[in-house]
Amino acid sequence: VTLSSCGDDILTMPIIGMGTSSYPRADPETAKAAILEAIKAGYRHFDTAYSYGSEQDLGAAIAEALRLGLINSRNDIFITTKLWASFADKDLVLPAINASLRNLGVEYVDMYIIHWPFKIGKEVKSMPIERDLVQPLDIKSVWEAMEECKRLGLARGIGVSNFTCKMLEELLSSAKIPPSVNQLEMSPAWQLKKLRHFCQSKGIHVTAYSPLGAARTKWGDDRVLGSDVIEEIAVAKGKTTAQISLRWVYEQGVSMVTKSFNKERMRQNLDIFDFCLTEEELEKMSRLPQRKGVTFASIIGPHDIVLEIDAELCAS
Ligand code: A2P
Repeated sequence: VTLSSCGDDILTMPIIGMGTSSYPRADPETAKAAILEAIKAGYRHFDTAYSYGSEQDLGAAIAEALRLGLINSRNDIFITTKLWASFADKDLVLPAINASLRNLGVEYVDMYIIHWPFKIGKEVKSMPIERDLVQPLDIKSVWEAMEECKRLGLARGIGVSNFTCKMLEELLSSAKIPPSVNQLEMSPAWQLKKLRHFCQSKGIHVTAYSPLGAARTKWGDDRVLGSDVIEEIAVAKGKTTAQISLRWVYEQGVSMVTKSFNKERMRQNLDIFDFCLTEEELEKMSRLPQRKGVTFASIIGPHDIVLEIDAELCAS
């Protein structure tokens, strides 16, 4: 997908990215081997974050892929990483992107994203966290620092994640460089129509995270991969439930990051471009029960700021 609003640079992002967050955290060798396997399978977009602890693994895998001649240059890979909430302060953004670049061993990232829509007052080691540490994001000044990352060539594109319509309005009212993407939880079981359409109307591309409902993780469940409706469509088409779900996301004009460290499943997840969903299938999927998987309150505690953001995202 070609991303708009990026200044002079034309930024093309592969529609399917490989997620690198795992719980419990994969050991570095396992993660590096899985990422190398994904490069062999054809993935050219990798999604990481300072807080995932996988930036070093991704950097090591890219270096190894170069040594092995699997890719010709670092430019062959689209890297997304994210500004952690503890560094969501105008003076901490540049040091934070520099730390991520060091972890990755690269000179620039393709996309730098504000990870969470609020600030955490200091570096914390575990969740839940104290109420006083959760602070509102000063959107204007943090975004100016993000713009500086792009101006300095440290990030080719800049974006946000988990931003509500209200926060996007505020951001757009002062931004010199509008965000290229808003990365949001989205799947057939959490279709997020209102926020998605709002982003699309503002030229902000939506990337879905947890498009398979984060199956087999601590925070996810099987409401996507265990759906009878999706399973029925999959059987009729000779595809897997995962492929139908990812295809559905794609047909909404949305790109996605999905994680699999399993060779067969990572290949399967890329193979969604040789079929279409029919009107009837799309209609059936539009009627699936809806529920947001992850709430911030469940991760960091039921604090007022967090509850308000959760409520806005849940109403989207
Ligand atoms: P695994 O790494 O063992 O394949 P999401 O992308 O929604 O966050 O979901 C990721 C989870 O879904 C991972 O736990 C991953 O496990 C699992 N997964 C990824 N692809 C598939 C697939 N094609 N079929 C079944 N499970 C999958």
